[in-house]
Amino acid sequence: MRDPRHDILFEPVKIGPVTAPNRFYQVPHCNGGGYREPSAITEMRRVKAEGGWGVVFTEQADVHPTSDITPYIELRNWNDDDVPLLARIADAIHGHGALAGIELVHAGVNSPNLYTKEVPLAPSPLPILTFTSDPVQARAMDKEDIRNLRIWHRQAFQRAKTAGYDLICLYAAHGFGIIQHFLSQRTNQRNDEYGGSLANRARLMREIISDAKEEIGDRCAVTIRLALDELAGPQGLDNAQIKDLVAMHADLPDLWDFAHGSWEQCSGTSRFKPEAAQEDLIRGLKQLTPKPVVGVGRFTSPDLMVRQIRQGLLDFVGAARPSIADPFLPRKIAEGRSDDIRECIGCNICITGDMTSSISRCTQNSTFMEEWRKGWHPERMRARESDDKVLVVGAGPAGLSAAHRLGQRGYQVALAEATAELGGRVTKESKLPGLAAWARVRDYRMGQIQKMPNVEIYRDSRLSAADILEFGFAHVAIATGARWRCDGVARYNLLPPPIDPAMPILTPDDLMAGARPTGHVVVYDDDHYYMASVLAELLVQQGNHVTFVTPSVKVSEWSSNTLDQGFIQARLLDLDVPLRLSRGLSAITANGVRLTCTFTGKTEELACDAVVAVTARLPIDDLHFELKTRVAEWAERGIRSVRVIGDAEAPAAIAWATYAGHRYAEELDDPRPSGSLPFRRELVPTPREGHAAAGRP
Ligand SMILES: Cc1cc2nc3c(=O)[nH]c(=O)nc-3n(C[C@H](O)[C@H](O)[C@H](O)COP(=O)(O)O)c2cc1C
Ligand code: SF4
Repeated sequence: MRDPRHDILFEPVKIGPVTAPNRFYQVPHCNGGGYREPSAITEMRRVKAEGGWGVVFTEQADVHPTSDITPYIELRNWNDDDVPLLARIADAIHGHGALAGIELVHAGVNSPNLYTKEVPLAPSPLPILTFTSDPVQARAMDKEDIRNLRIWHRQAFQRAKTAGYDLICLYAAHGFGIIQHFLSQRTNQRNDEYGGSLANRARLMREIISDAKEEIGDRCAVTIRLALDELAGPQGLDNAQIKDLVAMHADLPDLWDFAHGSWEQCSGTSRFKPEAAQEDLIRGLKQLTPKPVVGVGRFTSPDLMVRQIRQGLLDFVGAARPSIADPFLPRKIAEGRSDDIRECIGCNICITGDMTSSISRCTQNSTFMEEWRKGWHPERMRARESDDKVLVVGAGPAGLSAAHRLGQRGYQVALAEATAELGGRVTKESKLPGLAAWARVRDYRMGQIQKMPNVEIYRDSRLSAADILEFGFAHVAIATGARWRCDGVARYNLLPPPIDPAMPILTPDDLMAGARPTGHVVVYDDDHYYMASVLAELLVQQGNHVTFVTPSVKVSEWSSNTLDQGFIQARLLDLDVPLRLSRGLSAITANGVRLTCTFTGKTEELACDAVVAVTARLPIDDLHFELKTRVAEWAERGIRSVRVIGDAEAPAAIAWATYAGHRYAEELDDPRPSGSLPFRRELVPTPREGHAAAGRP
């Protein structure tokens, strides 16, 4: 039964001409699939509506070919050809009683137009502001361009209405939409009636919102997603100006959706941003307008959501990542099952799918973007096909995921863990600075497993191949994890460099087990993700003098994909950690390290008392190999399959391990022949004749 304190979350709220069935508002988020994966994104949004979100938005949809943010894959609303896909998504959302929203954008100074080859348009003639600093500039829009921009928006509004959307949202946050580019003095350096004063800079916003209301306002709510603060001081769009802007246009849109000024700030990782991190910026805004207000903050706690509403901060609980990690979050609160919420850990792996134009995945929800491709559902699993018993060896993220999902399928499962502690790497890493939320990977799965009478956990149970052969489980999953290498091998050194045994070398495993070096420590990072920077932080906290060395041109380079690379480098600089960038480790000597510049090949010596090597990892797969060598004995012992999964198969980020565990459980008794394509693909129809002929469009 629902906790009556949470009733307020389930009140219907009017937004212009439409009414949301509750206050759960899935704000726009991309997914690395976009126009390339129409079925996958449709099913993903459908599942969110099924999970109880009252409003479900698409990702950003570009309104015109001059707004092309290739290589990132979002949605397009360029002409009538886009309507069938947009309608398919809206229909899927409506199927569960939710309102369907579409975020419309002209990306202005963010559109390099690499695909359309159009000349970019912006308020002022500035370089295109993309993640990759494309060598392209935008031309300043003249009055005719502005008139055209309004016409393109009007046409896009009509297409969105035809496609069946209930809400359209104009994107003016994260630095990504032309309305924000006009609002901000940084990108709007015009001296006509569209530049200068805040009222002038807001002219385009007023015109486009008024056009939208005229075109589609009878049936669709017109909302705006507005930056809370660009954090560029008064030169940019600051929070004080936003307050003035809202006060000046209090009644203009049907709803105000507030999000931080940059994407990095808005979708901050849990290492740098706690839940409700935008509360101070949003405070007071709702009081300036009679229209409903949405805000975000990686909200997973229903009590905190209720507080935000009761304190007059928000009308709607906006969520992107919490809705990815648990599409059924609203349903669980509605049913009084808040303990079952699969809480987002704030790792931003979901964002890496977009940043790499691949397809998104989620550490907590392995079914994300696999709803159509693999037919996976975040809450339901198909029933077991047999009475076979399954042994899972290792209770890290892969083992816990496999045991949980096998248990859900109804299998009799034994989960054997060599140590007293469950969770493997997530438990160990969660004790490092800033990574406490990683423990949610363990806690959610343990919470579920503990309710399952068919899953038994055995701690302090280090198993040998002989033990496993003795037990005779029908299926065995080996999820024994990985260990960090201490021989310097990773990407820069594919073979071990010379190492003098007099120099103490520690790995992340040593530090997580409590070992502490003394004096000046070189943290050598050839992993390029979060671990080395976290350990550097830990050692500074312990009083060590730390130098950070990496062959990369920046600290934690891959973390650009999780949007926190800038925060990480700033943290190390704030801690006065000297950075030796573009330096490979060519030798560890008795007194220090020999470094080689990755560009010039010049070498230098750096004295130190210890080295922490954050390099590659090695799978802990001895048990798997031993069992494989005894394959001849399996049949007589009743063993039908042995599989190695997760880091024990090939080390990767935590999301890969949870995925491997989930996949093992899904595929255990899959009748498809081995070698068949593991997921459904979206194929672009290729016309054989006629249509394919050369000519004008
Ligand atoms: C994978 C991902 C993709 C996103 N894409 C968009 C987008 O297309 N449009 C947008 O307005 N915001 C986008 N965002 C930002 C979110 O809407 C949201 O403002 C932000 O993540 C903070 O909310 P949260 O803490 O609930 O995740 C994206 C966020 C994520 C995690
Ligand atoms: S990938 Fe990480 S940040 Fe993104 S939704 Fe999943 S748990 Fe949250």
